[in-house]
Amino acid sequence: MIKNIPDTLYKKKVIYLPPQIIKTYKKKLIKYKIYSYAEKYDPKEKSLGGKDKKSTLQHFARRFQNSGSRTEYLILNPDKVFNSTQKDLLSTFGYGEVSILDIPCGTGGGIFTLLSTIAELKKNNVIDTLPLNLNILAADFSKDALKVYDDFLKNIIPFFIKYGINVLYKTKYWDATDVLSTTKLMDQYLKLNCNEYYILVNNFSSAVIGNSGNSEILDNFIKCILPRMNNKKFTFLWIEPILKKSKKLFKRLIEKINKFLKYFFKYDKIEINEAEYSWYDAIQKHIVKKGSIRLNKYSRQ
Ligand SMILES: C[S@@+](CC[C@H](N)C(=O)[O-])C[C@H]1O[C@@H](n2cnc3c(N)ncnc32)[C@H](O)[C@@H]1O
Repeated sequence: MIKNIPDTLYKKKVIYLPPQIIKTYKKKLIKYKIYSYAEKYDPKEKSLGGKDKKSTLQHFARRFQNSGSRTEYLILNPDKVFNSTQKDLLSTFGYGEVSILDIPCGTGGGIFTLLSTIAELKKNNVIDTLPLNLNILAADFSKDALKVYDDFLKNIIPFFIKYGINVLYKTKYWDATDVLSTTKLMDQYLKLNCNEYYILVNNFSSAVIGNSGNSEILDNFIKCILPRMNNKKFTFLWIEPILKKSKKLFKRLIEKINKFLKYFFKYDKIEINEAEYSWYDAIQKHIVKKGSIRLNKYSRQ
């Protein structure tokens, strides 16, 4: 539980992305010449990201902060909806050696905001400043997203190091619809040194469900990702916005787990939960009232 959330992160019931992440984000919007586009787009328009450069940069300009607000809301847990996930996150990312699989990583909104929030909490002495060593493997099928991810992370790493968060990372091309690509991803991930594994899936429902979705992706989670975590201390956290699509996705995921991985998950803790919240868009300079998060988490201690 966090008693005094710094008002750089949360005030008057509104989530503010950490100042350091906003500073780096603005710099990158200028570098990629999309700042004025980010200022003006209609927030109601859809933007799902994609393989090519145009949809990658569109998603970066429109949705980076949304993704970040979700992981930040989760770890700050101001409405006490996600008590068990918050407790786990604070203990996992408090100190130690953790390997994160960030999939699909996109341009990194979710994980960078999560880590920046932890650094901001450490900076304000809200949580201990014990050393945390992270090994991140970030994968996506958009090579342009991987480039932006790398560029962004390089800029923000000094802030993490200042507050005891040491980050080693690799980016990797990965096609989630492909069994071999997913198997290779897991081979590489499981070679990382750590005492805890953290698989973070953030905002993937559009690629899995609906007209443009591919159900092979969910099958590959069941066949190639989760069984490989057998006998490992790990957490599998899947975060989505509250949408019909994500409801359907989690229903299918649970059905598949119950059918194919029933014994694997028999004794593990499962949390399924959701919440709505408000967050401040630092580029369009207004409060977004309809932030939402739905999650599905399995963890093995
Ligand atoms: C909505 S974005 C989410 C990105 C990031 N997790 C975030 O929250 O900002 C979806 C991402 O999925 C990636 N993606 C879509 N289909 C994929 C596939 N078959 N294999 C790997 N990545 C895929 C896209 O390139 C895009 O970066």
